[in-house]
Amino acid sequence: MSEPIAFSAATEAKIAELLGRYPRKQGALIPTLYLAQDEFGWLKPEVLQLVADRLELTLSAVLATAMFYTMLHKKPVGRFHVQICTNISCYLLGSDALMEIAQQALGIAPGESTPDGVFTLESVQCLCACDRAPTLQINKEDHFKVTPSELKALLETLKTEGVKLGPPVGWLAEQHHAHAAHA
Ligand code: FES
Repeated sequence: MSEPIAFSAATEAKIAELLGRYPRKQGALIPTLYLAQDEFGWLKPEVLQLVADRLELTLSAVLATAMFYTMLHKKPVGRFHVQICTNISCYLLGSDALMEIAQQALGIAPGESTPDGVFTLESVQCLCACDRAPTLQINKEDHFKVTPSELKALLETLKTEGVKLGPPVGWLAEQHHAHAAHA
């Protein structure tokens, strides 16, 4: 049985402010999910339930929205979340080469995290910057017209930074939690 969870007072205040902007609570669902993700790291089942309770929605409605957006994390993510767009414009301009480089540099496949919790790699669909393809996003930062050598250099820099920063807080516990939730 997992511990009951609650939003911090700061997040609660932001949710209350959001709710004031929408005529229906459902309108605040996506921004509330982002706030929940910022607070808890990823959208584990009890976080989805917390959001459902707070917005008086069904769990299935909250889950359906969470599943639709790749930016909403349904499992723990590492310190650096590397999302490479592999949709058509990016694909035509070399996203497969970028993905290959990332896989080799990090030693993981799309959808996986490095065991030290520093990187999570993902293939994502259009990042809405097709005119600046190939694109990728690392955490909330966009990178446009990325060349293979730029990506190599970027990952090397982040690896060095990752050695200093380590994984996100509670990485191992969250991994166990995620495995238990999917078992
Ligand atoms: S196809 Fe990659 S940003 Fe649109």
